[in-house]
Amino acid sequence: MDRALTAPTSNDPSARAAAVSPEEIDVELDRAMSEHYVEGRRGMRSVSATTLLVALAACVALLPAWPPARRVLGVGLETTLPLVAISVSSIVHAAVAFARVGGLGRWYRVAEHVESLCSVSCGVALIYLSGSAASVFWVYFILFVADTWNNPRDVRLQVTMFGAATTALAAAFAARGALADVAVTGSIGVLGAVCIYAFAASARHRLRGEAERRVLRARLEGLLVERERDRIARDLHDGVAADLSTLLWRARELKEAVGDGAATSIVDDLVSDVRSSLDELREVVFALRVSGGTWDELLSELRARVTRLCAGSLRGEIAFRDHEAAADVPVDVRIHVLRIVQEGVRNAVRHARAKVVRVEIERGARVVVVRVSDDGEGMPDGALEASRGGLSNIAKRARLLGGEASWSHDAGTHLVVTLPLGAPP
Ligand SMILES: Nc1ncnc2c1ncn2[C@@H]1O[C@H](COP(=O)(O)OP(=O)(O)OP(=O)(O)O)[C@@H](O)[C@H]1O
Ligand SMILES: [Mg+2]
Repeated sequence: MDRALTAPTSNDPSARAAAVSPEEIDVELDRAMSEHYVEGRRGMRSVSATTLLVALAACVALLPAWPPARRVLGVGLETTLPLVAISVSSIVHAAVAFARVGGLGRWYRVAEHVESLCSVSCGVALIYLSGSAASVFWVYFILFVADTWNNPRDVRLQVTMFGAATTALAAAFAARGALADVAVTGSIGVLGAVCIYAFAASARHRLRGEAERRVLRARLEGLLVERERDRIARDLHDGVAADLSTLLWRARELKEAVGDGAATSIVDDLVSDVRSSLDELREVVFALRVSGGTWDELLSELRARVTRLCAGSLRGEIAFRDHEAAADVPVDVRIHVLRIVQEGVRNAVRHARAKVVRVEIERGARVVVVRVSDDGEGMPDGALEASRGGLSNIAKRARLLGGEASWSHDAGTHLVVTLPLGAPP
């Protein structure tokens, strides 16, 4: 949607700080949950933890070899060995997947679900084959619940898996007519599901608090930086820039005083040096202020600058476009947009012999695209490779943000720069 520039919005940092949206907190919560999940898995999937788990499982599998234990467990080696072997291979598989692709890799995510499924199914089979719901094999389930309580990410899936397994077990006991076992299984099933939910909800609540603190801390840091930039800009403007203006004015007076003579060219150089230092300083002050201003303020400043740069025979056009759900443009990207447009237009003015230069700035949900086109004579071959100034700086700015800059020459020069709005890769 094309839009007209709106009047500058509030530049009061505290007004912007107040606008922390629930979406921002949700994004941060997602990140915190992922970090928490990966962190939790790291210890569990280490070589020593996996070895310990496998050793414990081997003990359980071999326990029926001792006749008194076999009587208590209600199953023999012929049952425990294959079932525990299935469970152990899924645990080892998950540990290998974690070591290879990390906690967020697709392979690991699948391996973890397979592991949960195997643990739950083997637990159900062992309880059922032991002949009674009062079985020590519920330990499998307790381990499963203990592993998931701290992981709010997959709570629905885990409750579903747990619920389905206990329901299947209760149905199997019911088919055998063992109603007391059905009642015990049902109670443990409900209790387990409630525990998983309760623990996961409390972990989620804790992580939400952490996410809110992170968002507010980042806001506060941004505000402090903005305030400091504003102070530096003010000091430069009111101090050094004012002194340079006085110097320029005195140099002009000096030029009039010396009249035409040998010293004229020295004074001319002096005037031009002071003027360009003053221009540089104004640029610095403006860049500092852009960081404290809004996107709309930047656009209106760009419009003014393009008009000023094109004053003369060249016609300057500028257009802005916001896509649906256009994102907020971070401070560093705004400064790069300003510099890129300035250099693109300045090059068209200085080198292109063009009649028209057109600037387009497009803001999307993930990128800002800047286009500067002129209808001039086009860039000479090799200009980009040879550039040590403007063109190479534009390319560097784009790369710095993880974006890219490209030039084409077709009836003039066309610059397209794409700047991502996320963190650089
Ligand atoms: N829009 C354009 N049309 C025609 N030639 C161009 C255009 N932009 C750049 N060039 C060519 O590319 C060269 C390199 O440009 P670049 O901006 O890197 O340096 P510069 O403008 O000469 O100096 P500065 O470092 O001050 O920017 C220019 O000297 C010019 O020959
Ligand atoms: Mg240049």
